[in-house]
Amino acid sequence: MGLDINVQQGQYNDIHPTVEFIPFGKPGQVRIGDCNTIGANVRIFVGPGGIKIGDWNTIHTGTTIIGNGPFEMGHNCWVGQNAYLDHTGTLLIRNGVTIGVGTHIWTHIARGEQLEGWRYNVDERVELQDDVWLVGGGSYVAPNVTMGRRSVALALSAVTHDVPPDTAVAGVPAEEVADLVLRTPLDLNAKMALMETWVREFCADRKYPFTVQASNISLNNGTHVITILKDSYLPTTGIGVSSTFFHLDSKHYTKRLTPLEREFITFLKANRARFIPA
Ligand SMILES: CC(C)(COP(=O)(O)OP(=O)(O)OC[C@H]1O[C@@H](n2cnc3c(N)ncnc32)[C@H](O)[C@@H]1OP(=O)(O)O)[C@@H](O)C(=O)NCCC(=O)NCCS
Repeated sequence: MGLDINVQQGQYNDIHPTVEFIPFGKPGQVRIGDCNTIGANVRIFVGPGGIKIGDWNTIHTGTTIIGNGPFEMGHNCWVGQNAYLDHTGTLLIRNGVTIGVGTHIWTHIARGEQLEGWRYNVDERVELQDDVWLVGGGSYVAPNVTMGRRSVALALSAVTHDVPPDTAVAGVPAEEVADLVLRTPLDLNAKMALMETWVREFCADRKYPFTVQASNISLNNGTHVITILKDSYLPTTGIGVSSTFFHLDSKHYTKRLTPLEREFITFLKANRARFIPA
């Protein structure tokens, strides 16, 4: 039986030639979306559970993704150098998740000698929901943990229990840091104002024309168009392969992969704004 790995990938990925896909049992399907960056010496073990990676993720040098269970990563995630992501159980990393340098995530525990009565020989599931942030580095996430949407674990945490959404934890074992204000939510008008600032900066550097109205901002490079919409109404005109719409309230965008769209997302995605393909 051959153990060739079937890697299906989209466009504009930057996968370093030293990246290895390594069979772990009978390898399942590897599906990689578009515009991902996978750095030198990243090792990805592929078991029957397969590997699914969305768009615009960055996985830095030396990271190991190891196991034979399912591994899923959504869009816009960032993994620091030398992270160790175990998917012997199931590892689900949703959208916009940040995993600091050298983080270890474990979905199994083994090696306890069963003949001597050791209890721990289990495969579990870990889920990091949208916009989870394992800050800095050196944290550990235990098997059977779900970190809720926008939760944060500060550097060097050992996360041994579920973390509720919008909560910060720290320490070993990690406990809630109640007085840490994680963010100040912005309304749609404030978001439009920020986007306008960034569009002005983006267009000034490139000499692209743009227009600003109360409910939308539009820019173009002479060939392709971007329109940022305050509300998620579906436009009835202007929909085409050369035109990308970004919706501020749903945070979705109509992915077209035009050069302008990719240039704009590259400008935004580090820590200004992240959008999900509709
Ligand atoms: C240790 C382990 C087996 C405990 O699992 P469990 O029986 O479900 O028990 P819990 O997760 O509730 O942990 C029991 C207590 O130990 C604490 N604990 C677990 N890991 C800890 C750590 N690294 N540092 C400090 N405390 C820890 C928990 O916070 C919990 O404390 P509490 O009862 O005050 O809440 C589990 O955390 C685990 O599997 N860890 C290791 C995973 C691993 O390294 N796998 C690699 C492959 S072998």
